[in-house]
Order: sequence, then C-alpha cells, then structure tokens
Amino acid sequence: MSDNYEDAYARSLADPDAFWLEAAGAIDWIDRPRTGWTDGLGWFVDGTLNSCYNAVDRHVAAGRGGDVAVIYESPVTGARQRIDFDTLLDRVSRTAGMLADLGVGKGDRVIIYMPMIPETLFAMLACARIGAIHSVVFGGFAAPELAKRIDDATPRVLLTASCGIEGGRILPYKPLVDHALDLAAHRVEHVLLLQRPQCAADLIPGRDRDWAEGYDAAAPTPCVPVAATDPLYILYTSGTTGTPKGVVRQNGGHAVALAWSMRHIYGIKPGETFWAASDVGWVVGHSYIVYGPLIAGCTTLLFEGKPVGTPDAGTFWRTIADHRVDIFFTAPTAIRAVRKEDPDGGFIRDIGTGRLRAMFLAGERADPDTLLWAEQHLDMPVIDHWWQTELGWPAVATCLGLGDERRRAGSAGFPVPGFRFAVLGDDGVSVAPGASGHMTVATPLPPGCYSSLWNNAEGYGRAFQSFAGHYESGDAGHVDSDGFVHIMGRTDDIINVAGHRLSTGQIEQIIAAHPAVAECAVIGADDGLKGMVPIAFAITKSGVDAGDALPGEIVSLVRQELGPVAALKQVHIVGALPKTRSGKILRAAIRGIVNGADVGIPPTIENPDALAKIAELMQSRQHAAAT
Ligand code: COA
Ligand code: AMP
Repeated sequence: MSDNYEDAYARSLADPDAFWLEAAGAIDWIDRPRTGWTDGLGWFVDGTLNSCYNAVDRHVAAGRGGDVAVIYESPVTGARQRIDFDTLLDRVSRTAGMLADLGVGKGDRVIIYMPMIPETLFAMLACARIGAIHSVVFGGFAAPELAKRIDDATPRVLLTASCGIEGGRILPYKPLVDHALDLAAHRVEHVLLLQRPQCAADLIPGRDRDWAEGYDAAAPTPCVPVAATDPLYILYTSGTTGTPKGVVRQNGGHAVALAWSMRHIYGIKPGETFWAASDVGWVVGHSYIVYGPLIAGCTTLLFEGKPVGTPDAGTFWRTIADHRVDIFFTAPTAIRAVRKEDPDGGFIRDIGTGRLRAMFLAGERADPDTLLWAEQHLDMPVIDHWWQTELGWPAVATCLGLGDERRRAGSAGFPVPGFRFAVLGDDGVSVAPGASGHMTVATPLPPGCYSSLWNNAEGYGRAFQSFAGHYESGDAGHVDSDGFVHIMGRTDDIINVAGHRLSTGQIEQIIAAHPAVAECAVIGADDGLKGMVPIAFAITKSGVDAGDALPGEIVSLVRQELGPVAALKQVHIVGALPKTRSGKILRAAIRGIVNGADVGIPPTIENPDALAKIAELMQSRQHAAAT
C-alpha cells in the first residue's frame, strides 16, 4: 500500500473496494473477504473473523506473548500494572468463560458500567470473544440515563464494579446501578459486580454475582467466528432528543479501519506504546484505548486519573516519560486544564516527555491558542483531528503515518483516505472555498463507520436524508484555499462540555419537568476551560413564586437525571424568553448574547424586551465577575 497521503487518498476514492480489501490484509480472518461494500449490509459481507482474536490471541500466536499489552496507571489508587499478551489472553478468555457460565452467547447484549480498570477492558474483549455485543456506559451518567440504555439494549447481564474514583472521591456505583435497574422496564438476568478494595457493595442474592468468584470458577473460552457485519458493540451518544442514539459498530469494518488508522494516521508500529487519555465510556476509549492499539499489536495505556489534581498538572508528562509513550491523544480541554495550573510549562521542562513524538487532540475544536501553547512547550507536532461517535475513527487529520506533516492552527487537517467530504449549503450545493457550510461525507462511508442505530432505523435514515448521497455530520465548517478543513461548531443543539457530548434539548426536557417551570432554554456558553458549558434560562408557571431555591433545585435535578457530567451550574429565572411571532424560542439570539456577539434585534422577534433583559443580565454578571 502506498505510503504517500495524496496517492492513498486518490486511490481510496477511485476504487474504495480495492483499497479497503487491500487494507483488510492487516487483519487475521477466518474467511478472508472478497467483497468490499454492499448496500444495506455493510463492509466485507463474506468475511468472518473475531475481533478479540485480532486484539489478543494472534499476538500470542506470533510469539509476542511476553510483550506488554496493557499498562494500567492509576494515580488515584497508586496501582500500576503491566499486563503482557499472555496474561491478557488468560484474563480475557476466563472473563469470557465467566460470561458464558451466565448464559451469555452470540448476539446477547451486555451493559458495562465500570471505571477505568483493566477488568473493564477484559470484559469488552471477552464480549467480542464470544460474539456478545457490549454497550459501555460512561460513569458520569446518572441512573435514569443508565436505565434508558438498559431498556434500549435489553442486556442479558450488566457488569459493574463497587465504585469509581473521581480525583480524590470514591463514587459507589451499586446504589446507582440498583436505582437504574428499578427504573428500567427490562429485567437483566444477572449483575456481575467487581468488588474494589476502596469500597464494598451489597449483592442482591440470586440476581447479583461476585466477579471474583465467577472468574475463579470459569474456564478459558475460545473465540467464536462472527460475520464481519455482526455488531461488535452499541455505544450510546447524544442525539437531538432526550433519547440517546445507539450507534452500532460492525466487527469487520471496525477492525480494518482501526488497524489502518493506527499505522497511517498515528504512524505507530507494533511494539510501540499508544496512550489515549480518554474514558472507555466514549468512542475514543473504544477505538484508541481498547481495540485500535491492541489490534495493531501496540501497548495501550489505561489511565485512571485526571489531567490535573491526580496528583498535579505534571501527571500526563510523568506517565508519558515513565512508560515511554510514543503517541499521545487527549482532548483540548485537558490541555487547557493543565495549562491553567502550569502556564509556563514547568512540569514539561522538569519531567520531559520521554520518547513521545506527537500529540493528537480531538473531542472539540482545538483552539489555536491552546494548540500553539502545547507545541511550544512540547516541541513536537500537536495535531488536531476531527471525528465523531458515528464515524468511529478520524475523518479529518494530518496523517503522520502517510508522511504528511502539514498543519495549520485552527484546522483539523485534511480528509482522511476513505472520506469524501463535501461542504454543502442549505440548498445542497457545494459552497465556495472559504465559505461555511454543512460538513457532509459522500456515501458509502468507509469501513468502521456506524452501520445502523440500535432499534432506530428512522433516526439512522435521518442522517442521510437532508443531502442526497451524503451523511450529514451535524458540524459546520469550511475548507480554506489551501485545502485545510476547519470544523467550527454544530448545526444542531449538541454541545461539547469538557470533551463530553451533550444535548441541550435533553437538558431542557429535564428542566421543563420541574413542577415550577413553564418553559426554558438551554444554550452552550463559551468556556475558557471546558470549551462550552450549558446555561439555562427558565420561566416559572404563572402564579408560582420562583423563590431563591429554584436555580439550585434545577441544577440538582439535571445532576440526578442526566448526571454530574452535564456540568450545569448557571440557571437564570427570567420573566420571559425571547420568541418569534409564531412562538419559537430564539435560542440562536440568546446564544449570541451569552457569548458576547453583536446580535442586534432579530426581525422576527415578538418580545424584544425579553432579549434586552437577558443582555442586561449577562452584562451585570460579567461586571460582577470582573470586580
Ligand atoms: N464518573 C463519575 N463522575 C464523573 C466522571 C466519571 N467517569 N467523569 C466526570 N465526572 C463528574 C466529575 O467528577 C464532575 O463532578 P462534580 O460536578 O461533582 O465535580 C462532573 O462529572 C463534571 O466533570 P468534568 O466536566 O469532566 O469536569 P472536571 O472538573 O471533573 O474535569 C477536565 C475537567 C477537563 C479535567 C476533564 O473533563 C477531562 O479530562 N476531560 C477530557 C475528556 C475526554 O477525554 N473526552 C474524550 C474525548 S478525547
Ligand atoms: P463525539 O461523538 O462525542 O466524539 O463528539 C463528536 C463531536 O465533537 C463532533 O461532531 C464535533 O462537534 C466535536 N468534535 C470532535 N472533534 C473535533 C475537532 N477536532 N474539531 C472540532 N470539533 C470536534
């Protein structure tokens, strides 16, 4: 395969089937596919494989059993483990045996609500091993969100641990899991719970099983063959409604795309160490903590900590230096958090960065200021790249492994081979270079992208409806005169808070359920640390006295219903919300005012006073903050 970006990109578009069938050579197949894309079915329909085999067994078979597969670094507990491929195979195949003992088999769903510990990774790979479909739920979601996912995925078993650890706090998981299972209509057969030394959880006899006992009694279980188009996992992500979208990823395309990306985007080789400082609850964790590095035969680093406070803003560089990390991936918000505590880069200077050769950023736009700060202090390429849960792997990047080094602060780079972008206006016509439009990708999407939404064919179809022959990403952006792609923000009500994807519509739905609230609007406000934070404006029902307690109650309600990850801190009770004459809330105008834009009075507005009051409110807050 060509090692040059331009050639690879051109070939990937000229003959996608040939390009990806060749890339499929990086995977060990039970039946090697002869077919590329098939409409309505996916990639490599005639291929059979096992994703776990590719991530684990094949490296042992190749004589690399003694090489380190997983480094577990947990500054919050002081634990540190180096797990070689032999040990990983043992752990994963016995975890698979434990699931099989509970009756879990091919096609069954398994929900994993667990912290950043090696057993979480073993569990994901164990599901893949026996053809079960895992659905990992991020620990920052509250019980009602977990319940929604339980009802949609209808898992046979739920895997959890006694607690997570957030910085210095121990968060017991079991009460939350029990609450979610009470809320859910679906009944799981078993809860399998790993007792962590930091916190013991009570087990409900019959339903709940102890992980350690189950594991000790289990026999190693071999890999089962699955079709390339069989689902590997469901990962729920925020859509524009209160119901999360269950992104379905197929085994074959996923394995091929990740293997290709490790080598050609990140430029990493087997035996080198890759660290994605994310959480396994997000797509970055699925693709680049678990599957990508292991399929590529790299060492992956699993980090249970935060960029700051565990114990300090030097923790990233210390981990990178200690474990000889070659390529590092994190979110811009994490670098902003580090910079805030260490503006002069003293930790970087003192600790160094070992053999690190590049840092990749994603999850939100990398603001040029943060990116340039990092480049200056790290003295190496810092590469913004763009993707989404739906796509599963980077779609815009600087492909280091293809010898590309072009970068421009503020841009996420160039289209990755396989992705044919079109920046379209509302009329579906391509906009001129430099002009902003909808970021779309021509179909078929390359391997590794989502193949459906679980139980939601209509929702899946909607992403392909607005622009014929194109997937609508929901992001707006432009391509500059040199071909650099700039992603500037969402066209819908999704916001990214500290690299976490949330729907303002969903937060509104929760607030509107408060008995005192008549109506509300939640918008994303620019934030120097988290990129964006939600701000709520609410009006009370007539005759209801808001009282001083209401904003606090709303904050608690959102925390209880959605989870702490919503990070809602500011709630304003206002007399009216600005609306059009037809009664639509003018959210864009509110957003503009909150973010300091010169909004003017929209011609369609019914009640300009309401907008003026919000502007006054924001000005007085800014004034108060400044004095
Ligand atoms: N389990 C339980 N609670 C969690 C959680 C988890 N896995 N992750 C976050 N939370 C909680 C936090 O403790 C916090 O709770 P609090 O309101 O009681 O303090 C709340 O959710 C908000 O968390 P967050 O927005 O992450 O703020 P923070 O101050 O804890 O940390 C950053 C800020 C920037 C350090 C952190 O968000 C970060 O590292 N972000 C990177 C995200 C990322 O990697 N995204 C993936 C794309 S690459
Ligand atoms: P998620 O599905 O959680 O990965 O979030 C995907 C969304 O995050 C994208 O649709 C973008 O809005 C945003 N995003 C991710 N990476 C970038 C980036 N490099 N630049 C701009 N936005 C990004």
